[in-house]
Amino acid sequence: MILTHLSVRDYRNIPAAEFSPGRELTVICGQNGQGKTNLLEAVWMLTGGKSFRGSKDAELIREGAGFAVLEGVSQNQTRENNIRILVADASAGKKGRSARVNGVDRGRASSIAGTFTAVVFAPGHLSLVKGGPDGRRKFLDAALCQLYPDYIKLLRSCTRLTAQKNALLKQYYQTPDAAELLDVFDEKLADAGTQLSLRRQAYLAQIKPDILSIYRDISNGKETLEVQYEACFTADEPLLERIRAVRGRDLAAGFCTVGPHREDFSLFLDGRDAKSFASQGQQRSAVLSLKLAEAAGAQKITGEHPVMLLDDVLSELDDARQAYLLSRMEHRQTIVTACDASLFAKTDGKVYRMESGVLSEC
Ligand SMILES: Nc1ncnc2c1ncn2[C@@H]1O[C@H](COP(=O)(O)OP(=O)(O)OP(=O)(O)O)[C@@H](O)[C@H]1O
Ligand SMILES: [Mg+2]
Repeated sequence: MILTHLSVRDYRNIPAAEFSPGRELTVICGQNGQGKTNLLEAVWMLTGGKSFRGSKDAELIREGAGFAVLEGVSQNQTRENNIRILVADASAGKKGRSARVNGVDRGRASSIAGTFTAVVFAPGHLSLVKGGPDGRRKFLDAALCQLYPDYIKLLRSCTRLTAQKNALLKQYYQTPDAAELLDVFDEKLADAGTQLSLRRQAYLAQIKPDILSIYRDISNGKETLEVQYEACFTADEPLLERIRAVRGRDLAAGFCTVGPHREDFSLFLDGRDAKSFASQGQQRSAVLSLKLAEAAGAQKITGEHPVMLLDDVLSELDDARQAYLLSRMEHRQTIVTACDASLFAKTDGKVYRMESGVLSEC
């Protein structure tokens, strides 16, 4: 998968930009606060209209403009796609984020997931190691959504059922036939939740050998990373049994305390919990291992290597780790941002400069 061109209009601090990345490495350089991450985020938006910084519609539209438009041309082994993402401010009563692919209206931008595939690393993703389980679940869910369109439906159904059950738990004593209703929710949640969890477990098991070997290579064979999924049920205790067993606790808490929405996976560095043990550079290496393994997994599953989007990736890494990463960027389309373009001097990447939202090719 490659991006051949992106036109940006009124996105963040970028009034208008034309970006034609190379087939391998492209560097977007510039000083702090100039719009490098904004451009990388604009590329990521083509994967399904989501920001990797979790921003609201209005924040994506350039101040003073009515809407933002991103038009990308992607190419995979079999075809070229023209993807157009329009961002309007849904909170102002407009349509929000919508997409067109090859001129055909596809409705909500999230519906085009899988059309253009990318893997993004942003400094905020360091929370994959240090932060709460939510970020780790999102990592698995986002990867699965890009790979399998039916996974989005399963995820939405679990999220909806959990929200509905939470509402019932809060109103339990005021709701007629609440116990029977709760039985119905429990069965539906156990069924959908088991499917969701098994999909996540299978995916993590599939990319795990790559996660471990990439980490071993980044650290030059000096450290080992281990990954362990923490499922919401076991072979001995199926999800329905577990949910039934905690009904009293759920009622007291007013929300579902067991289910796929509470799952997690642990990362161990040389046998110790990476959350409390890993240094800054080691955390970065662990997150990069997850992201590079996600890309390698996508290539194995779909035959297409996703475009790599790496925001400020080399900082905090020692020379050996930087050299390893630069070597991984060969032969795959990779777009990186950097304040210091000299870090990429030894590569023959294409270089763009971003200054106050204005992009120019060097
Ligand atoms: N909707 C918007 N309208 C106008 N400007 C915006 C909007 N959203 C963000 N900006 C501005 O975009 C600027 C650049 O942001 P960006 O994160 O891309 O910088 P950067 O070049 O990646 O910097 P750094 O090197 O510090 O990471 C910020 O100063 C921010 O104020
Ligand atoms: Mg930035």
